[in-house]
Amino acid sequence: MRTHYCAEVNEENIGEIVTVAGWVSSRRDHGGLIFIDLRDKDEVIQLVCDPADNADAHKIAEDIRDQFVLVATGKMRARGEGLENPKLKTGKVEMVVDKLVIENRSKPMPFELNDDKVNEEIKLNYRYLELRTQKSYDIFKLRSKATIAARNALDSLDFLEVETPIMTKSTPEGARDYLVPSRVHGGEFYALPQSPQLFKQLLMVGGFDRYFQIAKCFRDEDLRADRQPEFTQIDVEMSFCNQEDVIKVAENLIKNIFDTCGFNIPSNFKRMPYSEAMENYGSDKPDMRYDLKMVDVIDIFEKCDNEIFSKIASAPKKNRIKALKVPKGDEIFSKRQMKGFEDYVRKFGASGLGYFQMKEDGLKGPLTKFFTEDDLHAIIDRCELEVGDAVFFGAGEKKLVWDYMGRFRIYLAEIMDIIPQNTFEFLWVMDFPMFEVEDGRVKALHHPFTQPKSLDYDDIEEIESIAYDIVLNGTELGGGSIRIHKEDMQAEIFKLLGISEEEAQEKFGFLLDALKFGAPPHGGFALGLDRLIMLMTGASSIREVIAFPKTQKAQCLLTKAPSPVDNEQLKELSLRIRQQTPVQ
Ligand code: AMO
Repeated sequence: MRTHYCAEVNEENIGEIVTVAGWVSSRRDHGGLIFIDLRDKDEVIQLVCDPADNADAHKIAEDIRDQFVLVATGKMRARGEGLENPKLKTGKVEMVVDKLVIENRSKPMPFELNDDKVNEEIKLNYRYLELRTQKSYDIFKLRSKATIAARNALDSLDFLEVETPIMTKSTPEGARDYLVPSRVHGGEFYALPQSPQLFKQLLMVGGFDRYFQIAKCFRDEDLRADRQPEFTQIDVEMSFCNQEDVIKVAENLIKNIFDTCGFNIPSNFKRMPYSEAMENYGSDKPDMRYDLKMVDVIDIFEKCDNEIFSKIASAPKKNRIKALKVPKGDEIFSKRQMKGFEDYVRKFGASGLGYFQMKEDGLKGPLTKFFTEDDLHAIIDRCELEVGDAVFFGAGEKKLVWDYMGRFRIYLAEIMDIIPQNTFEFLWVMDFPMFEVEDGRVKALHHPFTQPKSLDYDDIEEIESIAYDIVLNGTELGGGSIRIHKEDMQAEIFKLLGISEEEAQEKFGFLLDALKFGAPPHGGFALGLDRLIMLMTGASSIREVIAFPKTQKAQCLLTKAPSPVDNEQLKELSLRIRQQTPVQ
């Protein structure tokens, strides 16, 4: 219908007859002349309807409203002096309209496009209108570029793109499964994959050597700003490799994607063991764009005159006392604010938050009375305190302290506004523990197919695995591991996880079987594509980078899914609804 996209029209077209097509983004009636801003996928062009030039077109223009769909033909001319718009590619020209066709009308918009303050629910009800904005188009253009770059990078490394099933058996990644009832096998269910993990391992047993997939994954879990129930991974697996080989492929892939999308990043990323990440930053995904590092002071507190602290300090294996120095904190925060921080950490289970202020004449604060001069000096030295600094303390069970002090670190960075924007800080977090024990139950920290470094242990939580996560600006971008490729080791891990032989056979018999038929050593990783695009575009939520996302309550407001089905359909599936659970 068109001769040009709007973005293709410029001064070189002056004098030419051009046809453009798109949506009216604004219309201004200047008493006689009508100006229309017409927008197609990614640019705006100015149309001028002059009754002296073409009375028919002008008459049609009188009837036009925002978001009408038009096809306009006319001669391009230079805009008058001082009327140019440097923000537009087409800003030096305009079209004198000769023929105007209204292809479709539009009801008034339910919300103002491009208004950031509009309630997200309204926008999600009409997601296709939100997609009409330049901001959305730019996001999806980048997403498309990044996906193609990933395909090209992996193709050039001889990875084969293979699709794995969506209707399958449970693939555990730590969330609940979405289930699909079978009509043919009444009372039985398929599970949607939480990841292609097991199938990609089977492809290695199948001898494909190098696999990748832009894979849809489904997880029924609590949703957050960086989580969706349905999301996409760039999923990779390779055979006869060690951890370094996998890391090299991942770095190469990420570098290629960022380069193609116009961002400069290093070729190799920093690395940090899991234990250091937890001890220093209280998180397995520390944001390395700013410092605020914790130090251990449990040995100094052991000698203090406060019963609570000295008791905690008497069990240094189980507990931690962590100090977080805030440079110039004493100058920045009032005493009231410092006390107020306690309320923040209490939300995450802390019983309190101690603090000291570094003054000209030494450490001050409510806790100083419990320490000798020497110990106060030891704190100053350990935390490298300078006059004007503040230092906060968290004490208690180690996982609890890591968690709330880690959150407090992020909270402080946010309120102090010290997080640099427009920068990418990658970090490999390595050597994850194989297991964690929660309420007496042993769980796999990554997934149960990860290879442990060894199975000799006193404390099961001390077993390390060959697993690694890629962290970008404090968000987990991806993760992977070297896998178990021997059946006896896999069976042993299931046993340690409290999975009985019958259950292992029932759930993962096909994998255990495959491992008996010459499974090669293999490993891989998966990157969250949605998260990658979210971080690249600086979007505030993952929903912005998914064309048709779900809400925090896992609903699609556009289609109104999930929705009830009629009894006939339920009967066919051998199902009966006992009770409708309202959305929380
Ligand atoms: P993992 O569970 O760490 O590993 O997932 C890999 C990456 O997928 C992204 N991701 C999500 N993105 C959006 N919404 C979600 N609900 C969500 N859950 C995960 C994250 C995460 O880092 N099979 C393994 C990979 C492997 O070992 O090869 C796996 O799925 O960016």
